[in-house]
Amino acid sequence: MATPIIIKKKITPFNNTINVNGDKSLSIRWALLASQANGVSRAYNLLRSLDVISTLECLKKLGIKVRWNKKFCEIVGCGLNVFKNRKKIVLNAGNSGTLGRLILGLLVHHKSKVKIIGDKSLSKRDFSRVVIPLKKFGAKFKYKSNYKLPIEVNGVANAKPINYYEGKGSAQCKSSVMLAALNTRGETIIKAKKSRDHTEILFKHLKIPIILKKNKNFDLIKINGQKQFSGFNYKIPSDISSSAFFIVLTLLSNKSRLIIKNVNINPSRIGVITILKKMGAKVYFKNKKNYMGEKTADILIKSSKKIKSINCPTNYNSQTIDEFLLIFLVAARAKGVSYFKGISELNQKESPRLKLGSKILNKMGVKTILTNSSIKIYGNPHLKINHKIEVKNYLKDHRIFMMSMIAALSFGGYWKLHDPDSIKTSFPSFLDLLKKIKKNAK
Ligand code: S3P
Repeated sequence: MATPIIIKKKITPFNNTINVNGDKSLSIRWALLASQANGVSRAYNLLRSLDVISTLECLKKLGIKVRWNKKFCEIVGCGLNVFKNRKKIVLNAGNSGTLGRLILGLLVHHKSKVKIIGDKSLSKRDFSRVVIPLKKFGAKFKYKSNYKLPIEVNGVANAKPINYYEGKGSAQCKSSVMLAALNTRGETIIKAKKSRDHTEILFKHLKIPIILKKNKNFDLIKINGQKQFSGFNYKIPSDISSSAFFIVLTLLSNKSRLIIKNVNINPSRIGVITILKKMGAKVYFKNKKNYMGEKTADILIKSSKKIKSINCPTNYNSQTIDEFLLIFLVAARAKGVSYFKGISELNQKESPRLKLGSKILNKMGVKTILTNSSIKIYGNPHLKINHKIEVKNYLKDHRIFMMSMIAALSFGGYWKLHDPDSIKTSFPSFLDLLKKIKKNAK
């Protein structure tokens, strides 16, 4: 276990340009889809984090060839539903809900038993949300308790297409069913509350038969399965969720400025930017581009002195789901009371983030009113911390660790932060980038 990190002072003014790592959602989706392609696929700037490494290890166990090179990662696909390994195997999804849930979608057709296991955090998370719809395709599932890992899946040869209503705004649930539909003869119909749409964009790009109708609150998705596609190359843009730590650090710091290059700004991911701008943050997109259906831009951030509170509209929730912890820190600096509601899903993440986020704010001296699905944050534009704070992070949640680090560098105080190793899950270069920024600071 890595020793805790101690932070004793705020960061001094900086002016820098950085690259953050490849997007996690896109990296995992590229690997899973490449495993179903016919031929070789290459990914450049694939995120080299534990969640993605677990994805590649699971695919290898299923008989898929994976090759790393300095510049790219290569996957040799043998076509739809041709995982080779027919022995009873165990796949370890580690800490990754995205991997655990999405790969189950592909295994609906795999005619032998596969057990999925995960770490302590993943083993506490709910899998009923994917197992219930995937059962309808015809696959059999076994689990000991309450739809929690370990779960054993036994796929079927002649899966049947389904009608599925996704009402949580969960891209993991939607994508898991989409991957099951990919290999299922006939038309699967999904009505899904809005959530990140990377899987839809990739399906379109790969010419997988998909019909998409976007309504105000829901999307209607129709997929006709069993259309083989070829291997494909992908240059994965940088991760907006990783960028968000540095966006918030910059806007909460004095006289600072930062550019983050080539970030994925898919509209279903940028709730954090929309909300921060409404709160008065100086954040701008430069050099906008389109890449294989995804939007990218360089993001320019400047220190933002006057932060307003917000009564946050719930339609931003799914676009912001991984960034709320950071927005809470900005709300702590705001003038007035901020209110975030309809966010019970935050307690379903790697740790109960709504509860833990509120606890950290309280430790900082910020008043909150918390329910299971909402939080009111009483902001203070003059907030300064002069006391000791320890964050134990009992489920080693990467985003709890990084949020605490940004709080320490933005507000001051003496912080002891456990489990710095947790960054390896999603953002292995987080501490190195901070070092780079601190080195060039005044
Ligand atoms: C993800 C979807 C989100 C997000 C997770 C990644 C994805 O989860 O929290 O970090 O890649 O599909 P939900 O879809 O369950 O909200």
